Amino acid sequence: MSAQKWHDLGPVEAFKKEGLQEITVDKSKFALSFKDGTFGAISAVCNHLGGPLCNGTLDGEYVVCPWHYWKFHRATGEGEPGDEDNRVPRHEVKIEEGRLFINRTASSKRNRVSPEPHPLARPVKREKGPLRILGISTTVMDTAHPRYSTSEVLLQAALDSVKQPATTKLIRLSDLKFRHCEGFYSKSARACSWPCSITQMDDSDQLDQVYEAIVHWADVLLLATPIRWGSASSLYYKMVERMNCIQNQITLHDKALIRNKVASFIITGGQDNIQAVAGQMLAFFSEIGFVFPSFPYVAHSLGWTAENMERNVAYVKNSEELRQGSRELLQRALVLAQTLVDADAVETRVPPGGRKAHRLEPEAMQAAQAAQKKNDD
Ligand code: FES
Repeated sequence: MSAQKWHDLGPVEAFKKEGLQEITVDKSKFALSFKDGTFGAISAVCNHLGGPLCNGTLDGEYVVCPWHYWKFHRATGEGEPGDEDNRVPRHEVKIEEGRLFINRTASSKRNRVSPEPHPLARPVKREKGPLRILGISTTVMDTAHPRYSTSEVLLQAALDSVKQPATTKLIRLSDLKFRHCEGFYSKSARACSWPCSITQMDDSDQLDQVYEAIVHWADVLLLATPIRWGSASSLYYKMVERMNCIQNQITLHDKALIRNKVASFIITGGQDNIQAVAGQMLAFFSEIGFVFPSFPYVAHSLGWTAENMERNVAYVKNSEELRQGSRELLQRALVLAQTLVDADAVETRVPPGGRKAHRLEPEAMQAAQAAQKKNDD
């Protein structure tokens, strides 16, 4: 153990506030706690993804990381009972002549016990075989009382037209139970992980089926949405917010999870605003790495003054033209997907200039973390 390095923090009375405080000495941060008349101090860097323990909360004797809620004893740095080996460095504190001191030299070493990686975290590698088509219907409905969905009917018509050996899979988002994005990215770019932090924490969350199908399985994504007040469906946005973790891997690690994959869309509604709905979809799916066939969406609406839902359903029911358009859209997507797969055509690295959040400087953040680690280990 290296020599002790006591640092005078100041008058002790200034630190007698129940709860957690962030202490910075030179460039190192500590989580200082005061509870029931005693102080504790541990490294502020969480063992999981480096979250700032000093900005967390106290749950009894444990500091709760604000990013994904791992817990460490506020004085010993050990993990919760049963997970004591997973510990962050502890730092002694002492009071002398009314002043509080912290020992910058840790009195225990960091020990990381990482959980088994989530199955979705495996390397993305296209398994050999014929093209695979994923249909996703984002229509919201009560599955106990299904109704006619114009966008889903057209999606199904396209999927039904696929000839073997290509294979298809249909996911209805309304069949899945999954949580909304809870803003891990808003806490810090590094708090947003792949797979999604919620997926890693909550076994009951079923969006893993969408991640698995989109990232590891499909060559073609055909996504169908109704128009709701000029936007795609709320379930579409619920899914897309959770897919920010796919885009964030590019931001943080220059790692594109989506390569050589094609997306296309079916957009229908009694209300108008097709261009805006399609525009958002094209922007989002291009930012995560999809490419598009020519004329990448089929759309239909009756418009603002002609809105008439009975007539709208009847129109789609009787429209062979829309069905044919949907089938041909999928055919264009398949031709492009086969070309991309055969040629392995899409770049693995994307130049960052002008791209979303490319000035985030994750390397600088990682360097700061490494400096802290060097200090407290
Ligand atoms: S729980 Fe601390 S970074 Fe994830």
